[in-house]
Amino acid sequence: MSENVQRLWEKIKTDKIDYKLVDGGNQSNVYLYDKFAFKSGREKEIQKDMRIAELAHKSKANIPNIISYIENENVVVYERIDGTKIRNLSYDEKINTAFEIGNQLRKFHSINYNSFGEPVFDEKSVYGTYNTKEKFINDFIDTFKNISQDSNFKDLIEKVCIRLKECNSPPEKSVLCHGDIHISNLIYYDEKVYIIDFGDATFGFPGTDVTEAYLNYYETSDYMAHKFLEGYGLELNQLYDSSIYQGILKRLYTRMWHEENNEIPKWWDDCEEDYYNYRCNKLINIINDEFPVKI
Ligand SMILES: Nc1ncnc2c1ncn2[C@@H]1O[C@H](COP(=O)(O)OP(=O)(O)O)[C@@H](O)[C@H]1O
Ligand SMILES: [Mg+2]
Repeated sequence: MSENVQRLWEKIKTDKIDYKLVDGGNQSNVYLYDKFAFKSGREKEIQKDMRIAELAHKSKANIPNIISYIENENVVVYERIDGTKIRNLSYDEKINTAFEIGNQLRKFHSINYNSFGEPVFDEKSVYGTYNTKEKFINDFIDTFKNISQDSNFKDLIEKVCIRLKECNSPPEKSVLCHGDIHISNLIYYDEKVYIIDFGDATFGFPGTDVTEAYLNYYETSDYMAHKFLEGYGLELNQLYDSSIYQGILKRLYTRMWHEENNEIPKWWDDCEEDYYNYRCNKLINIINDEFPVKI
């Protein structure tokens, strides 16, 4: 098998024909060929991706099998899931898969930090890669100062930071979190939802993962977000305020960064500007207390 994939990889590299899917990859390139997905990128990232996939296989979540790692090329070869990304499904189909996305994420979270002798990587935190809320906020404000000139936005961010400071941190609980569970990292195939792309995984509080996914789907549709949460087995009022604010900050930050750089991200769903603004406005409404959660 590994000789076979090695040969295919050589072909992908040298062939003039464009087999590449290469669709959506930001830090990496993914080539879909035959029954395989070849993911190439920087050594550290690709190795992490593969090791997390290995670890995630110990959960009952649907994860593509690892076929091989091509030494010296920084390429991990996954089983190709020949379905449709959730992002490319119709609105109704998205709604219909949302419950199952929640169910899959809950399974993914069954991997506990303490149940493995040797940590896969050092990061272990509640606030993404930050150990404390204060660090997250300070770092956020620092970076933010440097990139935004927009005073309305500055006010808004300040408002969220103040609220974040005021609320309690979630409990210390450390499970494998995906870190990037948006609708391009989920594939629907044969009536199953598969989770892919483990480059942003951390060990941390699972609610952070859930909330970020919730906010992501909320921008598409309140109902999709609702079904997702139901599939995960949580109630809206069980989400932590701190995770909500943190999630909002991260999303607004992304918007701001792209605005400053005059670029709408290619991975942002249906990248029409109106829709993009509409999504951002929904987040802003959350801050202005129009969110159905009690905060
Ligand atoms: N195992 C796979 N089967 C089918 N398609 C895949 C697979 N892995 C990746 N892809 C496709 O490649 C895209 C980018 O892969 P991903 O692992 O998400 O990389 P990145 O970290 O660059 O986002 C995905 O959105 C998906 O379309
Ligand atoms: Mg991805």
